[in-house]
Amino acid sequence: MMKRVITYGTFDLLHYGHINLLRRAKEQGDYLVVALSTDEFNFQKKKEKCYFSYEKRKQLLEAIRYVDLVIPEESWDQKITDIKEYQIDTFVMGNDWTGKFDFIEDSTAAKVIYLSRTPEISTTKIKKDLEIGF
Ligand code: CTP
Repeated sequence: MMKRVITYGTFDLLHYGHINLLRRAKEQGDYLVVALSTDEFNFQKKKEKCYFSYEKRKQLLEAIRYVDLVIPEESWDQKITDIKEYQIDTFVMGNDWTGKFDFIEDSTAAKVIYLSRTPEISTTKIKKDLEIGF
């Protein structure tokens, strides 16, 4: 049986920390769904605009060999429905979210896994470094 994995994020200014996360997420199964924050949801979540639009971020993700499907993330509450709709076996997030999504194991059959973040890189850091001139 094909094992299906899902992960959530904004993936703005795509960087090697994102690629590392996606590679290890895909290693948890055979089919990786990325729920990509819409511009509106991202602004609500981070109080900051994305540099690349949803369509551009989606195109970049779809060009990555580990990514099989990109769907929109529009709210905090869609995870349980996504997991059921896409028949997900494993829910993956970076360890900045450790513990926050354990409830998913209580309401679905999916396993929840937190992967360690790649040190010293983030979209926020890229933006800050470019602003100050590194
Ligand atoms: N991620 C990671 N290692 C990094 C940066 C991000 O593993 N160095 C993971 C996050 O844990 C998340 C996914 O990549 O599971 C998408 O993260 P996102 O928030 O879009 O990227 P960040 O670079 O963390 O963005 P920001 O600085 O805006 O928080």
